[in-house]
Formats: sequence, C-alpha cells, structure tokens
Amino acid sequence: MKLPSKVKLVDVGPRDGLQNEKAPVPAEIKIGLVHRLQDAGLKEIEVTSFVSPKWVPQMADAAEVMAGIQRKPGVRYSVLTPNMKGFEAAVASKPDEIVVFGAASEAFSQRNINCSIAESIERFAPVVEAARAKGIYVRGAISCAVGCPYEGEVAPERVEMVARLMKQIGVQHMGVADTIGVGTPTKVQRAMEAALKHYALDDISGHFHDTYGQALGNTLAALELGVWQYDTSSAGLGGCPYAKGATGNVATEDVVYMLQGMGIDTGIDLDKLIDAGKYISDFLQRKPNSRAATAILNKRAR
Ligand code: HMG
Ligand code: MG
Repeated sequence: MKLPSKVKLVDVGPRDGLQNEKAPVPAEIKIGLVHRLQDAGLKEIEVTSFVSPKWVPQMADAAEVMAGIQRKPGVRYSVLTPNMKGFEAAVASKPDEIVVFGAASEAFSQRNINCSIAESIERFAPVVEAARAKGIYVRGAISCAVGCPYEGEVAPERVEMVARLMKQIGVQHMGVADTIGVGTPTKVQRAMEAALKHYALDDISGHFHDTYGQALGNTLAALELGVWQYDTSSAGLGGCPYAKGATGNVATEDVVYMLQGMGIDTGIDLDKLIDAGKYISDFLQRKPNSRAATAILNKRAR
C-alpha cells in the first residue's frame, strides 16, 4: 500500500452533475455553484461542455457560464470539447484545460459521440494539437472502462488500447471512468493498471459513478495504487444522457470526509463544500445525494 499524502479533486458537478437534468438550470445558478466550489477550496472545476445543444440541451449555455465566472487565482477551469467545432467555441472562453472524451466500448462511443473509437481518435487529434499549440492542457477520459450499458463487461485490454491511442495523439492526462458505476474495487484496479501502462501515476485520475454504491470503495482501491486525482461531484449530482440508469458521480462531500478521516490532505473546507452542495440541491428541490452531507446537515439542524 502506497497511499498518497495529498489528493486533488476535480469537481465535475457543474458539468457531469447538471448535464442530465431535464429542467433547465439557468447559467446564473451554474455560475453560483462554481463560485461556491472555488470558495470551498476546489482547485479544479469542470465547468461545462462545448457539445451539440441538440444532443445535450443543458450545456447550451457553455459560453455564458464560462464568461460569468469570476475566476479565482490558482483554480483551473476545464471544459469538454468533443471535436474542432467544440474546441473553437471553447477557446474564446479561455479554459485552462480541455477534455476529449472517448470510450473503451464501441457501442457507447457510437451512442455518446456518434462515431467509432477509431474515428473519435481521428477527431481528437487536431483538437489536441490545437490546444497544445495554445498552451491549453489536454485531459482525456475513457468512458465505460469497466462496464458498458450496451456491451456489458469491458476488458482492461480495451482501456489499455484507448489509453495508448490517446497517448499517441498527445493527450496529457487520462481519466479512467466507470460511467455506469458497475465497477468493484479489484476490477477498477485492473482498469487503472491498464491505463498506467501508458500514463504515469501523476497523469491519471479516477472518475467513478456511484450507481451501485461502489464508488467510495473504488476510490479507496485506486488510492491503494497511489492514484491521487479524482473527479467527484458536489451533492453526488450527475449521470450521462447516453448511459440510461446511471446515477451521479461519487459525492465530493463523501470523498472529502473519507480522506480527511484518513489524514489525507485535499485543501477543501468540508463545511463550505456542504453549503455548495446544499445550494444546488435546494435549487433542484432535492436532498444532496451524499451520506456525509446528509449526516452533517442533520447534525447542524439539531
Ligand atoms: P455529430 O452529429 O456526429 O456531429 O455529433 P456533426 O459534426 O455531424 O454535426 C452535426 C450537427 O451538430 C451540426 O449542426 C453541427 O454544427 C453540430 P447542424 O448543421 O445539424 O445544425 N455540432 C456542434 N454544435 C455545438 N458544439 C459542437 C458541435 N459539433 C457538432 N461541439 C457530437 C457529434 C460529438 C457533437 C455529438 O455527438 C455530441 O454533442 N454528443 C454529446 C456527448 C456528450 O456531451 N455526452 C455527455 C458527456 S460525456 C460523459 O458524460 C462521460 C464522462 O463523464 C466520463 C464518464 O463518466 O464516462 C466524461
Ligand atoms: Mg461521468
């Protein structure tokens, strides 16, 4: 066991968290969430996606949201860009980082971004080149790294292949995603190890949805491999419109609570983070999907 002494969390709540919401969430509310997350100490926030508004209507206000954020020094703002059109639209918003998102399963690649894995790499290549030429950091994501809603179980070899292809086109960081939250700790370790064949430990992160309640366990399993970067979502919001039934990412609050208890530094103020999660949950008229937030909010109420 080589547990890291510090962990970086990227809150993907404003993007992954809200992309699947049916009712429109005004840009102002999304901006309010980003502001609360940065005040809570998050050092990276995945703000939005520059994708087709026909495919994901909730992200149609990407430019407006990016323009409305009062940026805090030391915080990185990332956005999803599936193709050159998305990248060109994103550039004006001056993101610190862009994300190209592929999949380890052919069926999911087709459903999510309307092309095969091989075609997706061809689309990403000019995006990566253009971003790096402008000094914008490039992160990649591999969806369905352990399981696919259409193909079932996904072998680690598939993850290794996509990681290799992404590395070849210059993607600098690789996020290994359990899109539908079916992974269990050892399977997630195999997927992380597959990506680690092409990416260094410092250039890899975990992105675990919590559909089956495994995400915290999966996070611990990845920590045991030394992985120290994770995508999490405030109030456990989230889901992918092209992964039916999948619920949100592991709640940032739950991960911060666990890490604090383990003496691992995140730089995040849990109380302020809970306020951020409550803010967006109140807007959505539901309770935060985080056990730690629920417990702490109940304690506050007593
Ligand atoms: P396509 O239809 O193959 O693209 O979609 P196209 O190039 O043929 O263009 C078709 C139309 O879309 C055209 O408009 C383009 O202008 C427009 P029309 O002429 O019909 O009016 N278009 C765009 N508009 C705005 N921004 C763009 C853009 N590109 C084309 N960037 C595309 C391909 C990728 C665009 C589409 O499939 C799409 O937008 N998919 C959305 C996928 C998505 O956002 N999924 C959720 C995020 S991924 C995720 O949640 C997983 C993750 O969390 C990790 C995990 O958990 O697994 C990251
Ligand atoms: Mg996701």
